[in-house]
Amino acid sequence: MTTTVITGIGELVTNDPARAEQGGLLGLLTDAAVVVEGRRIAWVGPAADAPDADVQVDAGGRAVIPGFVDSHSHLVFAGDRSAEFEARMTGQPYTAGGIRTTVARTRAATDEQLTSHVARLVAEMRTQGTTTVEIKSGYGLSVHDEARSLAVARQFTDETTFLGAHVVPADTTPEDYVALVTGPMLAAAAPHARWIDVFCEDGAFDVDQARAILQAGTDSGLRGRLHANQLTYGGGVRLACELGLVAVDHCTFLADADVDALVSSGTIATLLPGVEFSTRQPYPDARGLLDAGVRVALASDCNPGSCFTSSMALCIALAVREMRMSPAEALHAATATGAAALDRDDVGVLAPGKAADLVLLDAPSHVHLAYRPGVPLVAGVWQAGRPVVGTPGWSG
Ligand code: NIG
Ligand code: FE
Repeated sequence: MTTTVITGIGELVTNDPARAEQGGLLGLLTDAAVVVEGRRIAWVGPAADAPDADVQVDAGGRAVIPGFVDSHSHLVFAGDRSAEFEARMTGQPYTAGGIRTTVARTRAATDEQLTSHVARLVAEMRTQGTTTVEIKSGYGLSVHDEARSLAVARQFTDETTFLGAHVVPADTTPEDYVALVTGPMLAAAAPHARWIDVFCEDGAFDVDQARAILQAGTDSGLRGRLHANQLTYGGGVRLACELGLVAVDHCTFLADADVDALVSSGTIATLLPGVEFSTRQPYPDARGLLDAGVRVALASDCNPGSCFTSSMALCIALAVREMRMSPAEALHAATATGAAALDRDDVGVLAPGKAADLVLLDAPSHVHLAYRPGVPLVAGVWQAGRPVVGTPGWSG
């Protein structure tokens, strides 16, 4: 197998807990090198000690970080809701009802149209440093359209999530729809999905409905995750903690009892600050969560309604500026803790045996991700050991 050594790394973010004593939360190394063998990392250490390899690449003193792990996105959709965004920016509130607009457009799209749209968005993410992405269904809301949405998503990632319980479609009752989601729709979706999710919110599904849907999913071999406390206070976060879910997402409106439940369950709170940015809502209290001992992940929530960004760098900048996370906490949340929110230990960390998913920044340190908001800093991306985005001198 060909080996490649990347030398001249001015700052390497490893996220390796074994390096925390000297390197802090991010396990930082300066003047570092990484050896890639096949799809995996074979060696990490000081450049001066780097072993020989077949190919040598020079990072030119720039920073290298793990690829972003975006643990929450809704990429399978058709249509455009920029008019809804425009109305919101002139005073209209965000509501769950806009989802139905996208459902009509998604049902009318062909498989080929949906696939090429997802391909475009996944490529957009990759160019910006995302090497692992979770993709949800949720704009089909019929047995056929949910199953095909997941089949499309599966072409791009193993981290697919059945979100038939996104909103109740206009032509049915909540009772009938929950029966459909937990019955024939789940049966059609499960072969294409790893996870099951519910939008637990006023105007979508209540706590009892969410509990029943998550239970049915678990019985079919899927693992649960939850959209909760996005628009209002409520019992969604506590439900996720009670069920021992690996992650609960949004967490914008939290009572003290929700924070206590997150602390004792160990459920990861995945914060999606692009949503608050794009809906003019208050940001979640990331600082309070971290100080209480809750594990916090960051993800894009890329979707046509509440937040149409694919940029994890933007999420990091917002988390630092608006949510009082340190640059190190925000990057860790967008990589290692994002991986944990997908129950993955092979990505989000740069250490021997882990996936060779690396991002070269056109910057001397990871701090530039928040320090230079809106600037495209990704100069190169390696995914599973292959250069997929590159500049001269990086891709060898
Ligand atoms: O995560 N919260 C529910 N679903 C999406 C928004 C979906 C939409 O508005 O189309 C979200 O914010
Ligand atoms: Fe979402």
